[in-house]
Amino acid sequence: MFKATPEICKEYSEAKPQPHIVLDNIWDEDLLKEIISEWPEEKDSRWFQNNTSPKANKRRICALSSMGTTTRKFFEETLHGKGLLKELNILTGIEIFPNPKLTPGGLHESPHGGFLRVHTDPSAAIGFSDRHRVLNFLIYLNPDWKEGDGGELGLWEDPRKECTKKVAPKFNRTLIFDVRDAWHGHPEPYLGSSPRRCICVFYNRKCSDKQISIKWV
Ligand SMILES: [Fe+2]
Repeated sequence: MFKATPEICKEYSEAKPQPHIVLDNIWDEDLLKEIISEWPEEKDSRWFQNNTSPKANKRRICALSSMGTTTRKFFEETLHGKGLLKELNILTGIEIFPNPKLTPGGLHESPHGGFLRVHTDPSAAIGFSDRHRVLNFLIYLNPDWKEGDGGELGLWEDPRKECTKKVAPKFNRTLIFDVRDAWHGHPEPYLGSSPRRCICVFYNRKCSDKQISIKWV
């Protein structure tokens, strides 16, 4: 867990191309290893596969009921817990709400060759007519990741220009970024031999219908 100290809040708000912060080793290593031990195999039928789209080659599990006991508890008690929400409210200066159904967050995995085209997310929070997607919170679970494997998440100010920031998907690394109008992705194929794993959570804020877009650009 992290504390939104004044230093962390400053780093987050001043980061380019949009507010973000990378936090290493904020979670108990044994807890993350337990979550990895519950992680479904590549061929498991619980995965929703997206491997024919030109936009992405990845898979995900969104339903808490399809996750192992420790993983589900981590989502329900920690990632959706009051303690973390309080810190995220301080970090962003916004009243943040979790999405108990997770979609399209949850467990994310890219196979060897997987990619995610540079894009911006829709602002609509799936399942809510009055919530707006604000934050993407990613925890990487790749103990074997090494330089050259690729799969770094890039953040762009302008997708036609150079990537502004790259974040390697290292074990026990957390990336929190303001997802509003944020260009992001890993367009080059991931080359690691183990699947690239991450826990993905979206947090929302309340808004009026007029502010919502449903497009994945
Ligand atoms: Fe996205």
